[in-house]
Amino acid sequence: MRIDIISVLPELMESPFSASILKRAQEKGLVEVHLHNLRDYSEKKFKQVDDYAYGGGAGMVMSIIPFSKCIKQLKAEREYDEIIFMTPDGEQLNQQIANQLSLKGNLLLLAGHYKGIDQRIRDKYVTREISIGDYVLSGGELAAAVLSDAIIRLLPGVLNDETSALSDSFQDNLLAPPVYTRPFEFEGMKVPEILRSGDDKKIEEWRHEQALERTKTRRPDLLKNNSQE
Ligand code: ADE
Repeated sequence: MRIDIISVLPELMESPFSASILKRAQEKGLVEVHLHNLRDYSEKKFKQVDDYAYGGGAGMVMSIIPFSKCIKQLKAEREYDEIIFMTPDGEQLNQQIANQLSLKGNLLLLAGHYKGIDQRIRDKYVTREISIGDYVLSGGELAAAVLSDAIIRLLPGVLNDETSALSDSFQDNLLAPPVYTRPFEFEGMKVPEILRSGDDKKIEEWRHEQALERTKTRRPDLLKNNSQE
């Protein structure tokens, strides 16, 4: 998989991609991440990438030309399965969307700033618009990093234990059950005995019950379209 991200602040995303799982995924050749600085595509003297909004009002709008130049150049080099604009008014990211996108080959993410981007960029190039939640960030960079992380960890070979992404919360519309490690007893609190029983079938049943219980109390909305009950 290849992920290209266009932004005015690519340095904001350098650290998430330079550590731990995302770093290893790139080193193993399972994903390529390319950050593109929108200013490199500005035709203005001081590399501006924004301008006043038509119709007036506070806040600058990101101009069509730098985005258009950068997108055209990238599209000439390869085909993109999706061109995704990160925006609080997009569809809300969930595990299902991450799963879908993890099956794609080339993704292009656009991170906006200021009051938004010229609508014509969205109309002409963008195939999907994604929000990471009902709150407004200073820009789309952190949202693009969150989306990339959610996708990359699903790629085969990225996690050491092939099954561990499948047992994540949300994969089956259930939250994950509680987990424990040593010591067996801490300040009077003991690990549930069943987890030391060695009976894999019983442990699996216990985990499923716990996952169901946790989901019922914390996120009953997840169970609505679910046959788990
Ligand atoms: N840009 C600003 N806020 C955002 C959000 N919540 N999700 C995606 N992109 C954003």
